[in-house]
Amino acid sequence: MSGRTFTLDGQPVPFTEGETVMEAALAAGVYIPHLCYRPGYGHHGSCKVCTVAIDGHNAASCTTRAREGMAVETATPELADMRRALVEMLFVEGNHTCPACEKSGECELQAVAYHIGMAAPRFDFFFPARDLDASHPDVILDRNRCILCELCVRASRDVDGKNVFAIGGRGIRARLIVNAASGRLGDTDLAKDDAAVRVCPVGAILRKGDAYTKPVGQRTFDLRPIAAVAIEEARRERERRRG
Ligand code: SF4
Ligand code: FES
Repeated sequence: MSGRTFTLDGQPVPFTEGETVMEAALAAGVYIPHLCYRPGYGHHGSCKVCTVAIDGHNAASCTTRAREGMAVETATPELADMRRALVEMLFVEGNHTCPACEKSGECELQAVAYHIGMAAPRFDFFFPARDLDASHPDVILDRNRCILCELCVRASRDVDGKNVFAIGGRGIRARLIVNAASGRLGDTDLAKDDAAVRVCPVGAILRKGDAYTKPVGQRTFDLRPIAAVAIEEARRERERRRG
């Protein structure tokens, strides 16, 4: 194989200068589970679900640039257990009701949990008190399901040019806030077709009237596993970038 390469679980993977390990892996058809990364949305690096071992040291694959000759491991037992623990934490620190959720079958958190073989979380549920904002005529914000990935923040700022969302507070007190004097979604210029609405990987931002429109068996992750969906999305974005 010519050009620049690194090894991913022992296999050579080509990359171009400036690409991250995640971007090169997805382009090569290798899925690394991730939640706060989305092709075309810049790098955030908050969820750590995409952590891999690079030359023996753990690092987020979505923010680490590929380097010639690096040895990347994605699936050691330690990494698999850490990834499961991170996803389990996301489930217990919010209020996720997968069987009843409108996003079930389309939710990346649920699909990643299936992919990594998560069963019941090993941690106690927090059952936090979180609010729901139904003030917008077309969009609902349910903070119970928010995983603070900031994708809506980036989408609203960088794609929609609106800055509707932000993250306020830190640590356990962090929450998604709405940039309006009232703090209510209905007092913003958010539109139902905005990228910020479409990008949410879970059921925290939903369009009203869209609930349960796809029957079980025809939802995105009923038809294809998240690995295949993510690889295709990344390749599409790569082609779009290259024109
Ligand atoms: S509302 Fe959705 S997109 Fe926004 S931070 Fe929460 S989970 Fe991420
Ligand atoms: S996907 Fe890399 S840190 Fe979230």
